[in-house]
Amino acid sequence: MKLFSGIQPSGTLHLGNYLGAVKNWIKLQEEHESIISIVNYHALSSDFSASLLPKQTIEMATDLIACGIDPQKSIFFVQSDVPEHTELTWILSCFVSLGELKRMTQFKEKSQENKKNVKAGLLYYPVLMAADILLYQTQIVPVGEDQLQHIELARMIARNFNKKIGKTFIEPRGVLTKAPRLMSLKNPQEKMSKSKGENTYIALNDSLETIEKKLGSAITDPARKKISDPGTSQKCNIYHLHQFFSTLKEREEIEQGCRRAKIGCLSCKKALAQNIFAELKPIQEKRKKIAENPEKIKKILQKGAKKAQQIAQKNMKEIKEKVGLLF
Ligand code: AMP
Ligand code: TRP
Repeated sequence: MKLFSGIQPSGTLHLGNYLGAVKNWIKLQEEHESIISIVNYHALSSDFSASLLPKQTIEMATDLIACGIDPQKSIFFVQSDVPEHTELTWILSCFVSLGELKRMTQFKEKSQENKKNVKAGLLYYPVLMAADILLYQTQIVPVGEDQLQHIELARMIARNFNKKIGKTFIEPRGVLTKAPRLMSLKNPQEKMSKSKGENTYIALNDSLETIEKKLGSAITDPARKKISDPGTSQKCNIYHLHQFFSTLKEREEIEQGCRRAKIGCLSCKKALAQNIFAELKPIQEKRKKIAENPEKIKKILQKGAKKAQQIAQKNMKEIKEKVGLLF
């Protein structure tokens, strides 16, 4: 199947990105025609630094390759290297109503942050995302839960277009992992995100000491006092993280120990920190090596952009023809 996903070049990757999306891309690239893009045009819709953006773009590429994105298996490129993305955005914007865009949760939330100066780009964000996806006749889009609404919108745009112009686009489907919404270490009611402060997330390049420190101050189960309550530890954010990094045996021991108050939060957190670091260490080591050669990363991205553009140009020509733009 054809797969597309994207990520903004906005600094460090955290465990939410990794478990909710990136790790899945690595797995799925083995069996699908994968296209992975660093979506730098999307980054312009929020606060960004023009002088930092090039460095952040290369850093994100380095991170993703270190995690296991294989340019032999996935087409891996930077969005702005393929101008067909923005070209299609305009066409698609004429197949979606203003009302639909204003209803997007992310738009509503982000426009609250700076009420007096809501950028039009923030409103258009999901149209650009729909263009990313539809441009390649994508069937599956592996993302975290927060992006599902945008994929629904892409489906709707595809439907509207097909209805008026004739069958052109495939309606893509979102694909989630078992961690579609990893929660903040400080507030289990809120999703893990880069924007809420360093102690709320674990970054993929955190050292063991940092992970221990961050987990040390992380909120555990708010209802932990009711230790006899079956399933109590299921609700604990820390226990939830164990599911992704610890063996079944370790989890059983921790659950039993926690319920019977045989182990405290501290040892539970220490074990988790070690298991998380065991997974991150090889990624960090690989990252160090490939970061020594940013020119090689640039070449990989250029090569990827060429491959992506071949597909994009062919599809774009067909789309323009259908819309009546070729004469
Ligand atoms: P972002 O960092 O917001 O550009 O997100 C990149 C990818 O990671 C998207 O597919 C998001 O849905 C996913 N993602 C971001 N935060 C989380 C989270 N807390 N839990 C699970 N997935 C997430
Ligand atoms: N909006 C996505 C995010 O913030 C990034 C993204 C842009 C994307 N275009 C995409 C994800 C296309 C999947 C498919 O995470």
